[in-house]
Amino acid sequence: MTTDDGRSPGPAAEAASAAPAPDAVTCLALHYAFGETRAVDGVDLSVRAGEVFGLLGPNGAGKTTTIRCITTLLPVPAGMVRVFGHDAAKERMAVRRLLGYVPQQLSADAGLTGRENVALFARVFDVPRRERAARVTQALAAVGLTDAAGRLAKTYSGGMIRRLELAQALVSAPRLLMLDEPTVGLDPIARTSVWEHINAVREATGMTVLVTTHYMDEADRYCDRVALMHRGRIRALGTPDALKSALRARLRAARTPPTSATPNPAAASRSSDAAPTLEDVFRDVAGSGLDEQSGGFRDVRSTRRTANRVG
Ligand SMILES: Nc1ncnc2c1ncn2[C@@H]1O[C@H](COP(=O)(O)OP(=O)(O)O)[C@@H](O)[C@H]1O
Ligand SMILES: [Mg+2]
Repeated sequence: MTTDDGRSPGPAAEAASAAPAPDAVTCLALHYAFGETRAVDGVDLSVRAGEVFGLLGPNGAGKTTTIRCITTLLPVPAGMVRVFGHDAAKERMAVRRLLGYVPQQLSADAGLTGRENVALFARVFDVPRRERAARVTQALAAVGLTDAAGRLAKTYSGGMIRRLELAQALVSAPRLLMLDEPTVGLDPIARTSVWEHINAVREATGMTVLVTTHYMDEADRYCDRVALMHRGRIRALGTPDALKSALRARLRAARTPPTSATPNPAAASRSSDAAPTLEDVFRDVAGSGLDEQSGGFRDVRSTRRTANRVG
């Protein structure tokens, strides 16, 4: 149930309605090809309202293409995408009004101040004129940039730029925030800071967060559920704990009897009693060829040298 402008009628009306709230995102048999490259090859995915959902996978897995189909920046050539019940192919404007998007590439203007950058997004996203100044101030405060708001973005560190981009996406008060590799290229302290700000805003507003990352450790720590994507397909989906426990159980089963002649390769690569990590789960579901085919997990950093390009 939505009003004419595509926004939710609010919590009271939603509670009164008998129908369950739609998922924030639903993808059914989503396909997208660049010529011969099947970037997204039959993705089924549901992101529940209010959760932090991680789309994980190495470089080239198809994460960005999937995200861009959900944002309506790319068409949906085959399959279906819905955002809070709205069809991304048929109701593009309604979908766009519901989401904030921080792309993998830079979106902040180095020659503007932090405040000017956020104010620009407030105008582009049609935040009512009367509310703009307050909303810009609020968005900057939410990402911890109040004191730096008057400085040019080119003087910001990489972590500050990423938080500025987060403020740009937040200023329209989206119900769904989509972040493509929000922490790539940042040092560990800046990465933690970006995540803490995302979480604080999520807790304050109840918005849904869909994030892509190739950092498995971050996803494990901050995502409610994750989907592991490889070569255009989702290979596993669940809470990080459930995925790790399932692998652990499979490895245990594979070790009995202990003299088994065909041990699971994932088991052989680790000491036998170590708890599996999410990266172990990924290697298990992706099978061999992960590093050769897709560049592995660690070479995406060069895609985003924030500080260099802004400076
Ligand atoms: N604009 C494009 N033109 C041609 N091929 C592309 C384009 N964008 C992505 N691809 C290819 O699609 C596949 C998935 O890419 P992408 O969605 O960017 O993956 P990820 O975000 O997981 O790194 C890769 O093989 C990539 O080379
Ligand atoms: Mg990408």
